[in-house]
Amino acid sequence: MLMKACTPSSVLLVCLGNICRSPTAEEVFRQQAAIAGLSIKVDSAGTSDWHVGSAPDARSQRHAKSHGYKINKLVARQVSANDFRDFDLILAMDSQNLADLQAIKDSIAESEDSLATLALFSEEDPTYCGSDVPDPYKGDNDDFEEVIERIESSAQAWIESWKAC
Ligand code: 4NP
Repeated sequence: MLMKACTPSSVLLVCLGNICRSPTAEEVFRQQAAIAGLSIKVDSAGTSDWHVGSAPDARSQRHAKSHGYKINKLVARQVSANDFRDFDLILAMDSQNLADLQAIKDSIAESEDSLATLALFSEEDPTYCGSDVPDPYKGDNDDFEEVIERIESSAQAWIESWKAC
C-alpha cells in the first residue's frame, strides 16, 4: 500500500482522453465519497488534448448509466501543471498515464511538498493493486463493463483507507 494518509480535500482522476475511464471514475468517486460522508472536491482530466470540450464517449455514458452513474454533462479537458497546485491527490488510470503525469510534475520548478501526490488509481485496492484500468476505447461491451468494475473497486478502496484514518 502506498500511504495511510488522511482524506484529501481534492482528487483529480486522469486517463488518456478524459472521455472513457476518468469521467466514469469522477462520478463513481463523487458518489462513493458522498455516501461515506467525506467532503472531497473531485474532477477529471486527460493527458492528451484529443477530446477537449467533448462529452464522455457514448459507450461510457451508457455503461455508467446502467450502473447508476450519470456522466453525460461532463466535459473533457487536458491536465495542466496548475492541477498539481490545485489538487491534493492525482490518480492515474494506467501506468502510461502515471509516467506522463510524473513527467509534468518533474517539469514544475517547485518544491515537491507543495505539489499533488501522484499515484496509480489501483494503488490501494487489494483486488487490483498495481494494475491498470485498461483503455476500453477500441474494446467491446465487456471492456467497458470491466472499467466500471475496476473503478468501483479501486475508488472504494481509497475511501475505505481514508475512513479508517
Ligand atoms: P480514455 O480512453 O483515456 O479512458 O478516455 C480513450 C479515449 C480516446 C482515445 C484513447 C483512449 N483515443 O485514442 O482517441
